[in-house]
Amino acid sequence: MDGLTGRTVLVTGAGRGIGRAEALYLTACGANVVVNDPGVEIDGRGGDESVAAAVVDEIRARGGRAVADTGSVAEWADARRMVELAVAEFGDLHAVVNNATIEVNKGLERLTEAEFDDVVAVKLKGTFAVSRWAAAYWRGRVDEGVRTDRAIVNTASGSGLLNPLPTQTNYAAANAGVAAMTTVHALELRRMGVRVNCVSPSMVRTRLTDPVPGMDRTPPAGELDPKDPAVVAPLVAYLVSEGCALTGQVLSVRGGSIAVNHGWTSGAQIDKDGELWTVPELADNMAALPLEDPFDRLATALGAALGIRGRDEFEAMVNAQLDKS
Ligand SMILES: NC(=O)c1ccc[n+]([C@@H]2O[C@H](COP(=O)([O-])OP(=O)(O)OC[C@H]3O[C@@H](n4cnc5c(N)ncnc54)[C@H](O)[C@@H]3O)[C@@H](O)[C@H]2O)c1
Repeated sequence: MDGLTGRTVLVTGAGRGIGRAEALYLTACGANVVVNDPGVEIDGRGGDESVAAAVVDEIRARGGRAVADTGSVAEWADARRMVELAVAEFGDLHAVVNNATIEVNKGLERLTEAEFDDVVAVKLKGTFAVSRWAAAYWRGRVDEGVRTDRAIVNTASGSGLLNPLPTQTNYAAANAGVAAMTTVHALELRRMGVRVNCVSPSMVRTRLTDPVPGMDRTPPAGELDPKDPAVVAPLVAYLVSEGCALTGQVLSVRGGSIAVNHGWTSGAQIDKDGELWTVPELADNMAALPLEDPFDRLATALGAALGIRGRDEFEAMVNAQLDKS
């Protein structure tokens, strides 16, 4: 595909799920890909070097160009090494797709310090670490007089943006941070020719969503399967392609639908001229504002997909999920 042939893209967490599909798609479009994945369990434990190697074998068998990396995005030195590997193997690095994640879902009162730190380390710090080393490399190239289109594509989740989910203190906070980092980096890196965007997949069939009701349902052959891990790949390929003008965007993807997200926006407001509100005044005036109930909001957004009718049924489902976590 025009704009991708010969470009080198580092995809983190590319051994499985959405990242694997992105690596296959990008190489089919003519890009060189560093397939990064330490092959860990969903919660980050263990590791299996054959996970990244299998994707590289698959790409090469189809005539594509790829190399495996089994470092962890959460390790500063590993993040640096994967950037260096791209340059050593393919001569340059044009784009980074920060896709790696782990998940440990638990109610707040049971979530441990380590479980919070581990998820934030992969999702949030990992996005920072890989982007940081890529940006340092790109700064060096610009200083040498080499300026070309470069890109970062981060990966967030609806749990963190539009619909933060119960049991996901760590994951939702990290994903919200990834979206914020996207804006910061888009503003900082533009002067080096680097565009920074973020994709937010939704209800894609991977091991992360295995327990979600209805995820196993596949449409009849010949129909688009909106839960296929490959649904995100064309958008990611577009965002890393030379000639794409987008930067600073956070885009939700569900099947063939792509929506532009806007961050927190101001809602209703109360004002008092020249003095602060008193607590009794706030009690009267705040209660009169049109406020959203968080259960209502989530029930409206997800209830139909989960077969749940109404706010109360939704709150009962949330509480049952918390008891199980
Ligand atoms: N599946 C969905 O519906 C969905 C929805 C919203 C967002 N997302 C996001 O999409 C991305 C991919 O998720 P997925 O569903 O394909 O998950 P997945 O578990 O199938 O794949 C994630 C991969 O990341 C790898 N990984 C874990 N820790 C790593 C580390 N320290 N360094 C490098 N790689 C590491 C894992 O080994 C795994 O292969 C994630 O960022 C996730 O937050 C997915």
